[in-house]
Amino acid sequence: MSPFRLTRILPEDATAAALRADVREGLTADPKTLPPKWFYDAHGSELFERITELPEYYPTRAEREILADRSGEIAAALPARTLVELGSGSSEKTRYLLDSLTGLRSYLPVDVSESALRQAGQALAAERPGTEVHALVADFTAGLALPDTPGPRLLAFLGGTIGNLLPAERAAFLTAVRALLSPGDALLLGTDLVKDEDVLVRAYDDAAGVTAAFNKNVLAVVNRELGADFDPDSFEHVALWNADEEWIEMRLRSRAAQTVKVPALDLAVHFEAGEEVRTEVSAKFREDRVASELASAGLELARWWTDRENRFALSLSVVR
Ligand code: SAH
Ligand code: AVI
Repeated sequence: MSPFRLTRILPEDATAAALRADVREGLTADPKTLPPKWFYDAHGSELFERITELPEYYPTRAEREILADRSGEIAAALPARTLVELGSGSSEKTRYLLDSLTGLRSYLPVDVSESALRQAGQALAAERPGTEVHALVADFTAGLALPDTPGPRLLAFLGGTIGNLLPAERAAFLTAVRALLSPGDALLLGTDLVKDEDVLVRAYDDAAGVTAAFNKNVLAVVNRELGADFDPDSFEHVALWNADEEWIEMRLRSRAAQTVKVPALDLAVHFEAGEEVRTEVSAKFREDRVASELASAGLELARWWTDRENRFALSLSVVR
């Protein structure tokens, strides 16, 4: 068994302060918004894992297919001694990379979800002697600094989670990622691709209602952490395709006029009947947009792999 360590880069009080600031800003804005990173308490992380198994939710299966087929090529292109993974969640698909990177010394999963990091990290450390697993509880959009581990480093950002950042956030994020990398390091990026609207909407509005429960979980988080009195049943899950932006939007639509109290913020939030809170965008990409966004951050798209149905892509950018 190799060592498992977990470091909280984000102290509990900073997380609490960030949630308060986001909820105040988002629920007093017009239109109202809440950032998607607050979905992922322990229950939200479990709901996300259930989403990945739904028949309608293709991205996980498509990205797994690429990793199963291409991890050997990825490891040959970048024989990393450190693998950093942002938004690692269950690290389930990462196993293909871990199996192929034969010289790997350190695996650094980074996530806001401590429960997901503990579960995945302890299992991996037990299975993989020789690879140190050092989990970091951190917000990857907030000035991430990494421990000093051996290079070359492969920084993986899988699942299409980059699509959950708004365009300006993505640009700032990619610039920060570039600054973390040295010559010889690389970024491995997972991006979901533009496709038929029906396929996309069904992936975010599944028949079993798991995505609806995931979406409403943000209200449970605000109730628990800030003493709010949201009634999740009084909101309806909405998923729609925004063709101009090429992203899926998840929203929560108030079924009636109502006022919700948020005591920790001394705030009362009024909702009109039918009023919506945007809780997530999930951008879908084309190769040229991925290449241009990488280039704007000083990264060059070197390799591009898709699954056999062209639903999802992995790209590799090696820093020169
Ligand atoms: N990479 C996994 C999980 C994707 S779910 C997969 O492909 O299946 C998105 C993950 O990113 C969750 O585990 C969530 O907790 C994490 N996450 C979301 N926003 C984050 C942020 N700002 N900083 C760090 N982790 C974040
Ligand atoms: C984590 N992220 C890439 C998921 C997505 O598809 O945008 C989150 C999710 N939202 C609804 N279903 C899954």
